[in-house]
Amino acid sequence: MNLEKAKTYIENNRVAQDERPAFHLTAPVGWINDPNGFSIFQNHYHMFYQYHPYSDQWGPMHWGHAISDDLMTWKELPVALAPDQEYDSFGCFSGTALETKEGHVLFYTGVKQDGDDVYQNQCVAIGDGTHYQKVEANPVLCGSDLPHGYSQADFRDPKLLYQDGHYQALIAGKNDKDQPAIILCASPDLRNWHYVRDIAYDINSNLGKVWECPDLFSLDGSDILMLSIQDMSQGPEFHNGNIAAYMIGHYDETFHSDGLFSLDDGLDFYAPETIETKDHRRIMIGWLQNWDSFPKPANQKWANMMSIPRELHVVDGHLTQQPVKELNAYHGDYRVYEHYSLLGTTTLPGVSGRYLDMRVTLHNAADLEIQFAKDDTHHISLAYRNQMLVLDRAYSGMVRDSLAHREVRVKYPQKELQLRIILDRNSLEVFVNRGEQVLSMTFYTPLEAEGISFTSTMQADLSVEKYTLKKSASD
Ligand code: FRU
Repeated sequence: MNLEKAKTYIENNRVAQDERPAFHLTAPVGWINDPNGFSIFQNHYHMFYQYHPYSDQWGPMHWGHAISDDLMTWKELPVALAPDQEYDSFGCFSGTALETKEGHVLFYTGVKQDGDDVYQNQCVAIGDGTHYQKVEANPVLCGSDLPHGYSQADFRDPKLLYQDGHYQALIAGKNDKDQPAIILCASPDLRNWHYVRDIAYDINSNLGKVWECPDLFSLDGSDILMLSIQDMSQGPEFHNGNIAAYMIGHYDETFHSDGLFSLDDGLDFYAPETIETKDHRRIMIGWLQNWDSFPKPANQKWANMMSIPRELHVVDGHLTQQPVKELNAYHGDYRVYEHYSLLGTTTLPGVSGRYLDMRVTLHNAADLEIQFAKDDTHHISLAYRNQMLVLDRAYSGMVRDSLAHREVRVKYPQKELQLRIILDRNSLEVFVNRGEQVLSMTFYTPLEAEGISFTSTMQADLSVEKYTLKKSASD
């Protein structure tokens, strides 16, 4: 598996950009999962991703690569990493990136298999924003550098940080009691690393198998530790198997958590990464998929996408998320309906399509169902009843409709229910009230299905504001 082979394959099999979502980053062909190396280098946003170009299934992981100037539209760059060394021959797993004096540093997990044994070690590649070289010293940080009893098979997804002249990395691992842990290691020069301490671990051994893809930052006076929890199901908030979550609290050598919350209550969201922009916004992008269900049509040659970039804030002790303001530059046709009185089902002239940014406010205590991507036989549905939000894609055209439904309580109810809904061809992201709850899902309904309908069984008092999204800001 080498870079040249991947580039040639992609050239020969590329799916045109206009056959893919407009704003949700996808690969030209093949499978993607986690966002990797989300960073700013030489004033451009860079996004890498877990990538298997050769099929629509997970396989030996490469790092795909794209850049953007506004976080909304992405330009494809050549694949940055391929699993071409002995130490990463099973795959170049997830990691992060930093702009340094040496160039653009990618810090990733090289995975190697030896018989039944798996070794996950941390590796460095340095580049100029397009081409990357793996350093001689790889692997620079191995499971065997950890205290006795720590897992060498689960030691991955480093978050690289630079502070006070030193590099630090937060890495997903397992401690000597087999508990998921976030391990802090440090280095003066990216090549020599040592274990420092665990900043958090699963003290009651009840929060999944591994806390993948950690991220740590301060925001609005709180500290946030993000984790993607592998294999967990617990109560109504955490019930989709693999859960992107965050702890809020304060970080002082270790992380003191005041609570654990899910980041997205829909069907598809995992492994997010954040950056701080030059104007000090904290922006998160996640993988808009889950590990258990891939509803795409069999003949579609690109598989999976990233979420819309979301600006984060802490409000009243929890995180809020909103699509980045750069989205507004893509606003096209505008329609507004104020205090529409709805009983039964209606469509609203001008409110349809597969690319839109729509705000819906339910002013009174009524129920509501909105169906999107609708024709005679298909639709997806977002409903609100009995204080619950319900997502459903059972009639989206999936061949098998397991994992098609998610039902969650409105976490922080307000007098009115406000929904901001982003539709981009094959995805729906719903930002509830001030964005303290988000529900996302993908769907692959035929593109001709563009209808949107509104239904209430009670007299609903409804306002709808819709922008069509243009594919380019200059259209
Ligand atoms: C999370 C994850 C990571 C790993 C990568 C492999 O989705 O399992 O822990 O590095 O995907 O592709």
